[in-house]
Amino acid sequence: MATARDTFAELAWRFRPMTQADLAQVAALERASYAFPWSDQIFSDCLRVGYHCVVVDTVAGVAGYAVLSMGAGEAHVLNLCVEQAIRRRGIGRELLLDVLRHARDRGIRDAFLEVRRSNKGAISLYHETGFECVGQRRGYYQSHDGREDAMVYRLELGALRDA
Ligand SMILES: CC(C)(COP(=O)(O)OP(=O)(O)OC[C@H]1O[C@@H](n2cnc3c(N)ncnc32)[C@H](O)[C@@H]1OP(=O)(O)O)[C@@H](O)C(=O)NCCC(=O)NCCS
Repeated sequence: MATARDTFAELAWRFRPMTQADLAQVAALERASYAFPWSDQIFSDCLRVGYHCVVVDTVAGVAGYAVLSMGAGEAHVLNLCVEQAIRRRGIGRELLLDVLRHARDRGIRDAFLEVRRSNKGAISLYHETGFECVGQRRGYYQSHDGREDAMVYRLELGALRDA
């Protein structure tokens, strides 16, 4: 019998710009993916101020998203998320590369991001993409047992490989 996971595995997906109409699905995915999710209002504000917001679009709806800010020669990956049922198929990597190339092609030199010290999966993805740890912010994140450190990562976008 086909499981939800099998069904997702056969889905075609594409990236497209996030719109206001996506916000309910994006926020639901955010709540399912993070212990301390962004509010709906934060996503709405990201669109309003013109951040580069991309969704993974499938026939079953939005299955991932990324949010990138750009300014003063720097890009910041503010959020990157893929629906749990379709993780480890390379979509997160492609989505990350897609937004990084967008920044590079607009003359941005460096990309930065912060990630929880405990988020080993995401850290593996960032290492694999070429990010290097350049610092940490002690107690930056809320956690269930107090605060958790953020690791700060940087990538020179000139080193990005092309699609
Ligand atoms: C992090 C996240 C976006 C990765 O998405 P994904 O589609 O599963 O990532 P990919 O399939 O493209 O993974 C690419 C590579 O990253 C590494 N990786 C990704 N997830 C991993 C995990 N859970 N454990 C170990 N390595 C992992 C692997 O090297 C993987 O390559 P491989 O599958 O060939 O071994 C996804 O796990 C997610 O949405 N997590 C919840 C939200 C989150 O923590 N976002 C990051 C906030 S900083």
